[in-house]
Order: sequence, then C-alpha cells, then structure tokens
Amino acid sequence: MVSVLRPAIAPPTIRRATPLDHAWIIDLGSRAFADLGDYREVLPAWLRQANVAAWIDDPGPRRGFTMLAFYRDDFSGDHVADLLAISVEPVWRRHGLGRALLDHALHVSRATAKAGRLTELRLCVAEHNHRAQRMYERAGFTPVALDVGRYGTGQRAIRMTVPLR
Ligand SMILES: CC(C)(COP(=O)(O)OP(=O)(O)OC[C@H]1O[C@@H](n2cnc3c(N)ncnc32)[C@H](O)[C@@H]1OP(=O)(O)O)[C@@H](O)C(=O)NCCC(=O)NCCS
Repeated sequence: MVSVLRPAIAPPTIRRATPLDHAWIIDLGSRAFADLGDYREVLPAWLRQANVAAWIDDPGPRRGFTMLAFYRDDFSGDHVADLLAISVEPVWRRHGLGRALLDHALHVSRATAKAGRLTELRLCVAEHNHRAQRMYERAGFTPVALDVGRYGTGQRAIRMTVPLR
C-alpha cells in the first residue's frame, strides 16, 4: 500500500488581528472570494465597523484569517455572531488550519454567548463551495431553509447556523 505523507507544519497560532494586519487580510480575502465578487472594498468596510473583529493564524508567516460580526438580527430580534469571512492562503490549505480558525471563531462566540445574549453563530456560503460546506457541517453547522439571496456574481448563498446554547 502506498501512503501519502504530508510535511508537518507549525501548529496554529491564532491571535487577534491589528490594523497592521488589515492590508494582508484584504489581499488574501479579495483573492479567495474573487469568484463571488470584488471584495477589495467590502473587506475594508467590514474591518472599519466597531462590531467586527478579526483573528489571524500567524506562527511567523500569516497563514489564514477569520472575521466575526456581532449584531441584533432586525427580523428575529436575536443577537447573533456572523462569520463574515474565513480563508487560508492556498499554499497552507488542507493542513487543518481552516478548521482551527473555525473552531476559534466558535470558541469566541460561545464565550461571548455565556456572558451575554448571543443565540447562534451563522454564516453564508456559496452553493458551489462544497469544501467549505463540508468543513462547516463537520463543525456542527446545519443549513437553514431560508432564501438569503445571491452573491454579486450570481451564486446562490446558503445560510448555515450552529446554536450557541
Ligand atoms: C475553506 C478553507 C478556509 C478551508 O481551509 P483549509 O485549511 O484547507 O481547511 P482544513 O484543512 O482545516 O480542512 C477542514 C475541512 O474542510 C473540508 N475541506 C477542505 N478542503 C477540502 C477539499 N479540497 N476537498 C474536500 N473537502 C475539503 C474538509 O471537510 C476538511 O476536513 P477533513 O480534512 O477532516 O475532511 C480554504 O479552502 C479557503 O480558504 N478557501 C477559500 C475561501 C473560502 O471558500 N472560504 C469560505 C467562504 S464561506
């Protein structure tokens, strides 16, 4: 039997992003989401919001980031965390870093829920993005039967959520 060995990489080292990280986040995010639209203006606008926070995996070279927004849903009135974006540099993918960043976002959301009124962590993912959907499902997210619209380039968005309590 032939086994495929993958080189060991430095374990995830996740920290809160600072303004010094924003240019890198915008660069990676706009490359990673290019098939959904032009994110070169969307990402800076998110990062400027007081209710948005980002974290990056940075054991030396920055390898990936995640971004969360916290707000009250106008429709349901629920207080929610929303995973606005998650991405890993292509060269570092398939080493568990995306899942580590997602687990960190879940940990932050659960800790915030304990101290307040957050009820769920939600996200939107493109219909064709099966690899991300698989990652979310394995982390406990389930799809919601709700029409949340389409991305700028036409792909249908799917809402997925995980309860925080
Ligand atoms: C989605 C993304 C963040 C995953 O990062 P990653 O570091 O490669 O993910 P991991 O190695 O931690 O893998 C996590 C899970 O994702 C799924 N996955 C990741 N890459 C996959 C692939 N090429 N094929 C199938 N499943 C895949 C698997 O379920 C995997 O878990 P498993 O290895 O236990 O089966 C990364 O592919 C990425 O940055 N993509 C572009 C941006 C994007 O699509 N973000 C999500 C927008 S909603």
